[in-house]
Amino acid sequence: MKPFLRPLLLLLPLVLAASARAAVDTSCLAPGADCTLREIATAAGVRIGAAVNPTWLAGEPAYAEAIAAEMNSLTAENVMKWPAIQPGEETWNFGPADAVVDFARAHGQRVRGHTLLWANPIRIPDWVNAAPDAETLEDWLDDHITTQVTRYADDVDQWDVVNEPLDNFGLTLYDNVFTQRIGPEYIARAFHLERAADPDAELFLNEVLVADPTTPRFDAFYDLVTDLLDQGVPIDGIGFQGHFIAGILQPTPEQFEAAIRAFTDLGLKVEITELDIVMPNQSPDRLEVQGRVYEALVGACLRVIGCDGVTTWGITDAHTWIDGTFGPGYVPLLLDEDYGRKPAYYGVRDALLERLALVPEPGAGWLLAAAALALRGAGRAARTGRRCP
Ligand code: XIL
Repeated sequence: MKPFLRPLLLLLPLVLAASARAAVDTSCLAPGADCTLREIATAAGVRIGAAVNPTWLAGEPAYAEAIAAEMNSLTAENVMKWPAIQPGEETWNFGPADAVVDFARAHGQRVRGHTLLWANPIRIPDWVNAAPDAETLEDWLDDHITTQVTRYADDVDQWDVVNEPLDNFGLTLYDNVFTQRIGPEYIARAFHLERAADPDAELFLNEVLVADPTTPRFDAFYDLVTDLLDQGVPIDGIGFQGHFIAGILQPTPEQFEAAIRAFTDLGLKVEITELDIVMPNQSPDRLEVQGRVYEALVGACLRVIGCDGVTTWGITDAHTWIDGTFGPGYVPLLLDEDYGRKPAYYGVRDALLERLALVPEPGAGWLLAAAALALRGAGRAARTGRRCP
């Protein structure tokens, strides 16, 4: 290399890093300033999201304000599910899903599409469960996926193509109308259909209770994923639902990180797609305990480059499906019933700040990543003094 080129080459990382930094406003990280989850996540180049309900987006200003301020990703909690959006073969109900997409568009948020096919038989519409034969069911599946995906192709960036393929707590695929009529290959069919309808969307397989890699259920899920990949099924990512019960039904952070890395090592993306943490007792420090669990488990994801998104299943304890499942009072989310920030909120914020320190440059490509590496020492030192209050 010509000697005069060497100093220029050494300067390149600095130039690239400086321009990347200029693209994101990080002034909220200044001492005394305050930053939202959304601002930190955006600066770190990751997604922080919530499951939302369009009724409250339209009818409860505090809810809409919190979702707009704190989240850069939205998931429709229910209104994109098959029974909601296509309650009959010829009947579509797009209005509520459109409302979620419109809100996201108005507020510059990504949309995760949840879900084209929830494999649990009780989540499949009755009319679909009554499919008389394989041919009819394949036609219905094709029509459902193609119609829904095409409609939202401009707005949905990531689909849970199949949700919960494994039987609840089990090791095998759900015994449902699809496995009965089409066979296990219905999963591959769904992914191929989606890819054909919107080649730009990221396609996820979403599952529950697979966050501990020491369990047979994790192995069953891992085998399913690797089988599908071997067959050339276009899977881009794995969604870990979450839905933990603190101290009772939760992985350790180490287990969770290992489970996540098992999939990023396959070249897949990973996101936590449905996080909530039920607090099973009334101990006086339970909110602080919850904050630490949130930080540890969100941190287990965000420490892994490739685990680039975390979605909580709601945002406020005022509206959570846990109330309908376990009963009231389990306070599983980030904001309290009056939209006050809980320790859980600060736990997630700290995990996001750790990620920001880990990947200083937002949206870094390999060149920017190299620049970030070169600058990491300086960046980390500077940032340590600039943590949010
Ligand atoms: C839940 C919703 O939160 C509830 O309102 C609804 O009654 C049932 O579904 N796993 C999933 C989510 O993939 O879609 C579920 O959402 C929670 C469990």
